[in-house]
Amino acid sequence: MPFPLSIEAPDGVLAGLYSRELSELSGIETSSPLTLILASGVVSLAGGSVRENPVFVDFVGGTLGFRRVYGGGRHSEGVARACFGRMKAPVIFDGTAGLGRDAFILAALGARVHLFERNPVVRLLLRDGLRRGRDSDIPEVREITSAGMRLEEAPSVTAYNGDVIPDTVYLDPMYPERKKSALVKKEMRIFHELVGQDQDREEYLKAVLDADYRKTVMKLPKWADIMHPERVNTVVATKNHRFVVYASRSQGKSETGE
Ligand SMILES: C[S@@+](CC[C@H](N)C(=O)[O-])C[C@H]1O[C@@H](n2cnc3c(N)ncnc32)[C@H](O)[C@@H]1O
Repeated sequence: MPFPLSIEAPDGVLAGLYSRELSELSGIETSSPLTLILASGVVSLAGGSVRENPVFVDFVGGTLGFRRVYGGGRHSEGVARACFGRMKAPVIFDGTAGLGRDAFILAALGARVHLFERNPVVRLLLRDGLRRGRDSDIPEVREITSAGMRLEEAPSVTAYNGDVIPDTVYLDPMYPERKKSALVKKEMRIFHELVGQDQDREEYLKAVLDADYRKTVMKLPKWADIMHPERVNTVVATKNHRFVVYASRSQGKSETGE
């Protein structure tokens, strides 16, 4: 049974700032009761009754703050190894931006990342995270989020009609969760309940491969089958994932910057 998204906005400044985005959210339904909360300068998403661990985009503290300070470089982060190859400052279209974690890691390592996200609630969470990042006291976070990350109005790469030509298109669609353990954190469960499964992932990958960008990277859980194996150039494997690198059909494998 679908549930209408509820919205609570005690922070009038945020409600004013995002009035256009909020007006686009009426009619959104989710698979469990969820509440979008605009409070104390942050937009977050919480379960209907349980308000602990709401989901919000945090480029300043949390996991990403830790990874910015202590994380690996271009050669040790799987997503960067796959998306950069030998390129030092690629332009990357993140076609499934989600909560912007991969985009932030890529931008922190020198990429210019254009973010595409079709879910309007997730897009609002991202927009708010970017605003807080750009207002942060930490100069590096301000630099990464303002010079390195741009949230596009187009909901997906296939709807983009701007002038920028990416070096790499990166896709990380939602797959079904296999582990039902406590490892799947509550905040990820809320995100799953909002977004559901990206059942059209093969279609999206095919449309991007048909557009023949220089390089396309698809992140998969380790157990998932690789799609379009005939176009694969390399695979970067990490503990739980595979980053499948596809070459451009017309430019050939050497052009992927591997
Ligand atoms: C697994 S999450 C991505 C997580 C992201 N890589 C991160 O680091 O936070 C997948 C996201 O892609 C979005 N998405 C899936 N298919 C899409 C499409 N065709 N166009 C735009 N966004 C899409 C979903 O709405 C969801 O927010």
